[in-house]
Amino acid sequence: MCGIIGYVGNEECAPILLDGLRRLEYRGYDSAGVAVHDGQELRVLRAAGKLTALGDALGRNPVHGATGIGHTRWATHGKPSEHNAHPHVSGNVAVVHNGIIENHVELKTELKASGRVFKSDTDTEIVAHLIDLALGRGLELFEAVRETLKVLRGAYAIAVLSKDDPSRIILAKNASPLVLGVGDGVMLAASDVPALLSHTRDVIFLEDGDLAEIRREGAKIVRVDGGPVERPVTRITWSLMQAERGGFKHFMLKEIHEQPRAIEDTLRGRVNLDEGGLEAGEMGLDAETAKKIRRVVFLACGTSYHAALHGRYLLESLARVEAVAELASEFRYRDPVVGEGDLVVAVSQSGETADTLAAAKEARERGARVLAVVNVQGSAIARAAHGTLYTHAGPEIGVASTKCFTAQQAALTMLAIHVGRSRGALSVEKGRALLQELVEVPAKMRETLAGARHVEGIARSIVHARDALFLGRGLSAAVALEGALKLKEISYIHAEGYAGGEMKHGPLALVDRDMPVVCLLPSDSTLEKMLSNVQEVRARDGVVIAVLDEPSVARDIAAHTIVVPRAAEAVSPLVTSVPLQLLSYYVADHRGTDVDQPRNLAKTVTVE
Ligand code: F6R
Repeated sequence: MCGIIGYVGNEECAPILLDGLRRLEYRGYDSAGVAVHDGQELRVLRAAGKLTALGDALGRNPVHGATGIGHTRWATHGKPSEHNAHPHVSGNVAVVHNGIIENHVELKTELKASGRVFKSDTDTEIVAHLIDLALGRGLELFEAVRETLKVLRGAYAIAVLSKDDPSRIILAKNASPLVLGVGDGVMLAASDVPALLSHTRDVIFLEDGDLAEIRREGAKIVRVDGGPVERPVTRITWSLMQAERGGFKHFMLKEIHEQPRAIEDTLRGRVNLDEGGLEAGEMGLDAETAKKIRRVVFLACGTSYHAALHGRYLLESLARVEAVAELASEFRYRDPVVGEGDLVVAVSQSGETADTLAAAKEARERGARVLAVVNVQGSAIARAAHGTLYTHAGPEIGVASTKCFTAQQAALTMLAIHVGRSRGALSVEKGRALLQELVEVPAKMRETLAGARHVEGIARSIVHARDALFLGRGLSAAVALEGALKLKEISYIHAEGYAGGEMKHGPLALVDRDMPVVCLLPSDSTLEKMLSNVQEVRARDGVVIAVLDEPSVARDIAAHTIVVPRAAEAVSPLVTSVPLQLLSYYVADHRGTDVDQPRNLAKTVTVE
């Protein structure tokens, strides 16, 4: 999600910035730009699309200078376009930013009221205006940035360059990554280590709440709300490839570990704990519109369909509205009954899946209201919808979806709470309690991820299995389906997900001592029934792998247990999904498959 690069040294910096941005391409982006100080002026060049477009623009309009900042933008606020690309300039300062400013609406309203004119639709431009205003009040640049940070809420890594001082770049970090590169008479800054490695292997990782200034001679680092701090210099020993994956062996593993952050970013600026509801104007679903919904129809494919099942369940239980989830690839070929009064929720990581797009368009033509729950700003499904609820998981590179899936679950939980509150089906207290549970999910995911090694051990024991079953009931039935899909697509082991109650209607015939059966046993309203189903498996010698929050529950029946922190029923699938992803990952890795690019599969399926 967005890449930042900054350079202050002795060489022509435009090619260095461009090279740094190339090293950050893996983060995903849709536009790019640089600001270079040419000794007199700030020269800003931006281009929509790939870095070659920015390279061409630099070829046509060369910029010379030894201090500059650059950025690749992954759109979150405002379409991917040249005018929304960074850097954004106000007065004499240029700013690049990675993250989301939560209070951008109120800040922008205030700035507009004071006569400020905005040239982009981004939240970032606010930062440039605020710094310019602080400079106008007589503060010097470093202090002007510090004052600005004090009014920002949300996640940011920013780099600031001023026309008045080519000798330094100001940097700040809060919940978005930023690392400094320490060279000989040169200093750099970047969102990630790969962008620095052609210049130096000595880096300083900034911490949240740090404000820094880099000059050729070195760095000064202070706390935004305090005095100077020392941050250690770390020598990087990773290869470039390893560095792009943050030290993880595969992008999939990195993305599994990024889930707490993905959920935090998806919730950021939307959860209103006081009201027990949501701030989600982008959905185009105010209380009046929500009250008129007759039925909710979720449309999606693959993993996104499993998230849709989660949404369907919660819309019914929390908002008390009829809800169905349909495979988009089936929906449009059966002359469906859909139209006015229906809210169609199109769920898609890429926002480009041909079947989901066509189904959403068809539903819209028939009079339904369409809401897109997608991860890619401005994607085809977002454009085809009346409203959007973006998951802010950041770009997902591994073909098998992980962080986008749990971000979808989080977004759909928010949607259910929003509709429930709007229709009076949920009280303020209930809404607040559920949102609080959602806010606590990232910490529970972190705790679960800390047990990755234990899951790896279990994975080793089933690496030679020919088949596997995944069982769950209620919301966990969707987790079981997703667990089976994950295992089959990356390890090529045949796997099936079932609602536990279905076992005795057929699949039980498959169970023997060679069959691993992953059982989802969170402490919820389905636990007792699920335990009976697990007994049925155990009685046929099936190898039970229990995912639970209370170890004593499966003491006598499970061959292996994976304990996760307890969470409320509505959100526990976000937590229990994590060990299943890890299990699939480690099985696949030990089998030596191409984890990030499984055979026969594509990340974005644009054919029907
Ligand atoms: C599996 C996976 C796929 C996608 C499906 C829909 O790990 O990622 O099943 O979920 O191809 O794609 P999107 O979500 O982009 O519509």
